Amino acid sequence: MEAKEATQNTIKEWFNNTYKTRGEMYLRPVRAYRIFPKILGIEKGDKILDVACGLGRLLEACLPFDASLYGIDISDVAVNKAKENVPNANIEEGNAEDLKFEDETFDFVTCLGSLERMIDLNKVLFEIKRIGKKDAKFCFLVRNRNGFTWLIKKKLGIVNRAGHQGAKSYEEWVEVFANNGYKVLNVYPDQYPIKKRQLITTLGMGVDYEKISKAIIPMEYVHEYIFILSKA
Ligand SMILES: C[S@@+](CC[C@H](N)C(=O)[O-])C[C@H]1O[C@@H](n2cnc3c(N)ncnc32)[C@H](O)[C@@H]1O
Repeated sequence: MEAKEATQNTIKEWFNNTYKTRGEMYLRPVRAYRIFPKILGIEKGDKILDVACGLGRLLEACLPFDASLYGIDISDVAVNKAKENVPNANIEEGNAEDLKFEDETFDFVTCLGSLERMIDLNKVLFEIKRIGKKDAKFCFLVRNRNGFTWLIKKKLGIVNRAGHQGAKSYEEWVEVFANNGYKVLNVYPDQYPIKKRQLITTLGMGVDYEKISKAIIPMEYVHEYIFILSKA
């Protein structure tokens, strides 16, 4: 039902409108993305593509690593802002279902908070795997359908259908990745909610945004998962 309601055009329109009205406030601050280049082990000269890059936050967090930065997003409004935010990166408008890059181009491909927004997950995962080098690492931040925030949204009927919000359980995500030829290397709980809690409990003193922290709730119920994958 949801997939029939939302088309690629309506999803793009929703994001364009959201970025126009909420601008930089729509996404997490850059410090929330500092964990990703650390987890991935990005080094000087690596080639990294952020699929559905939004305002370029992940790419901005990768700047200190002197890597070659690329981003694509379906929203032209986001792409224009991302180009301003990270002028050194190569950022273009594009659909994750049809990536305009040669096979085996990238050392790292990331896709944060976006995979569940896509219409055809299998096409996106095929494309992402295709453009990753043989030993590439892939990183997905994906929503957990057993997480408290998702359960509350469902209960209150406030799931964002126009923005094509979706969620899967841990087991379902593992299955989707395995069925599309990926191997799970590591899974972490989403870090930003944990860091926000630490900010309060340490009165702003002791938060290390580059260090992995454990969730205080069981993995089954965390808001989102960070999956680190390779080709199977
Ligand atoms: C919740 S935002 C996350 C943005 C960014 N990854 C971040 O974490 O800061 C989801 C993004 O997915 C993009 N998007 C949705 N469907 C897409 C598609 N088929 N291809 C490329 N980008 C898409 C939207 O335009 C939006 O920027």
